[in-house]
Amino acid sequence: MRSHYCGQVRAANIGETVTLFGWVDRRRDHGFVIFLDLRDKYGTVQIVSDPDRTPQSHPIAEGIRNEYVIKVTGRVSKRPQESLNLKLPTGEIEIYADEIEILSAVRKQLPFQVSSSETETVKEELRLKYRYLDLRRDRMSKNLQLRHNVIKASRRFLEDQEHFMEVETPILTKSTPEGARDYVLPSRVNPGEWYALPQSPQLFKQLLMVAGFDRYYQVARCFRDEDLRADRQPEFTQLDMEMSFMDQEEVLDLNERLICHIFKEVKNIDIPRPFPRLTYAEAMDHYGSDKPDTRYDLKLVNVSDLLKDSGFKVFSDTVAKGGIIKVLPIPGGNDAISNVRIKPGGDIFREAAEAGAKGLAYIRVRDNGDIDTIGAIKDNLTDAQKTELLERTNSKPGDLLLFAAADVITVNKTLDRVRQFVAKEMNLIDSNKNNLLWVVEFPMFEYNTDEKRLEALHHPFTAPFPEDAHDLATARAQAYDIVLNGYEIGGGSLRIYQPDLQAKVFTTIGLSDEEAQSKFGFLLEAFEYGTPPHAGIAFGLDRLVMLLAGEDSIRDAIAFPKTQQARCVLTNAPSSVEDKQLKELHVVSTHRPKVKEA
Ligand code: AMO
Repeated sequence: MRSHYCGQVRAANIGETVTLFGWVDRRRDHGFVIFLDLRDKYGTVQIVSDPDRTPQSHPIAEGIRNEYVIKVTGRVSKRPQESLNLKLPTGEIEIYADEIEILSAVRKQLPFQVSSSETETVKEELRLKYRYLDLRRDRMSKNLQLRHNVIKASRRFLEDQEHFMEVETPILTKSTPEGARDYVLPSRVNPGEWYALPQSPQLFKQLLMVAGFDRYYQVARCFRDEDLRADRQPEFTQLDMEMSFMDQEEVLDLNERLICHIFKEVKNIDIPRPFPRLTYAEAMDHYGSDKPDTRYDLKLVNVSDLLKDSGFKVFSDTVAKGGIIKVLPIPGGNDAISNVRIKPGGDIFREAAEAGAKGLAYIRVRDNGDIDTIGAIKDNLTDAQKTELLERTNSKPGDLLLFAAADVITVNKTLDRVRQFVAKEMNLIDSNKNNLLWVVEFPMFEYNTDEKRLEALHHPFTAPFPEDAHDLATARAQAYDIVLNGYEIGGGSLRIYQPDLQAKVFTTIGLSDEEAQSKFGFLLEAFEYGTPPHAGIAFGLDRLVMLLAGEDSIRDAIAFPKTQQARCVLTNAPSSVEDKQLKELHVVSTHRPKVKEA
């Protein structure tokens, strides 16, 4: 019955009678003449009804309001010269509605305007509660179309060009070690036992390599119970891959081609190859982060050796205790950033404090090349130290140097955060850039101070560099992360496929043989039956879509996301269940709702 989509009707259809379905984007009443912008997934078109030319539809058009769903049959006409709208693909024509049928009315007041011409900003809580209306709007419908295009381009590349096969892996499964808390589900038929939802398909995709599938991929839902941020969801989607008999160079090459294919297909952007690479050590050194945003310069400089013997006590004490001193040189920062902003109460100070720093010492490089500070540093530097400091930081008159002195982790966290904040504040970020890079040579392990043990930085199946394998505790991993404009959009590694090496890694992270057997015995056993060397990677699909869509929140890349409190405000999940259900599941809740005091 539908002859065209609304957005498809063109001047070439003038004189034809068409039948369209859609939502009334806007109804405008010009005296006798009623204009309806009719909208469907593919655009809007102008419908006209007046008592003279379309007497049959006019009484119906009078009763129509925004967001009604209607069917229209009418003749395509050329718009009068004065109402041509060449910005709109359908802007040369309008349709005289011989017949209008109301298929569904709006019976309640709309919580917000849906029309594509509305620029009203709506509170996110409201958008999520009425997500189906929010998805009708331009912004979200474009974002989800883009998401679809990314998945489609990925499938075409992986399946048609690279012979990957999609295999689905279980959702009701056993814990997978990706470092977050598990979501667990009680088993009704196995009293007292629990499934975990997968944090990733990691173990299954490795088993698929043992099974000889050679190249696997999956658009895979993953679940992680962790603190939420703007780029994290408890339930998210990975583009997950695993390949046999590939070394790291081949893996990176294939994935660069995949990313370039996606950018070209979806945004018509050519990304130059090969992507730059930084070792983990370089990234931490220069940016204080393993996911640096390289769209702007602002590189950190370590000056511990230079200033450890200055008379400035904070610096010398820090280095004596094993800490470091780093500088963030900010070109032009002398004018752009006032003292008030760096001292307690200031916005830049606040950023530093939130990262754990006690304060930010600073130096202003004056026009005569002299330096000017809050006293303590300047008075305690020798002339030679001043000269060397300016040289090392490549500072020029007009620059501002911000110092952080503390333990390595705090210094990097502080200056990474301040660097990003200053770049935004000083408008240093070119939002047209798409800076992709690999971070490689991660350490195998990092020290967990709470649990006082080493833990795997990626996951415990990551292979060490062979030349480092004699001392696993300090070994580098054959792991790689891919970073886009300061966001980690993916990561993976070459895997361990030798059971004895895998056992050594488990010992290094303090997992006893019994624990290793109970958690991963099935994988270790599988490795005993002929295992190909294999490697893999997973992209955070939601994050990639968020960035391609130019959004700041991952929620704007997902149809039905959770709030920061991990709730779905549309369905009101999570919610309580009946005692009967809990009983069947052999579960008792220990939660007691707080009783309000009288
Ligand atoms: P990793 O844990 O690095 O690796 O995850 C891969 C990518 O998934 C995205 N991501 C998330 N996106 C949204 N919300 C979250 N909570 C979230 N957590 C992670 C990130 C990340 O880079 N099994 C390994 C991959 C492998 O080794 O093959 C894994 O899951 O963009």
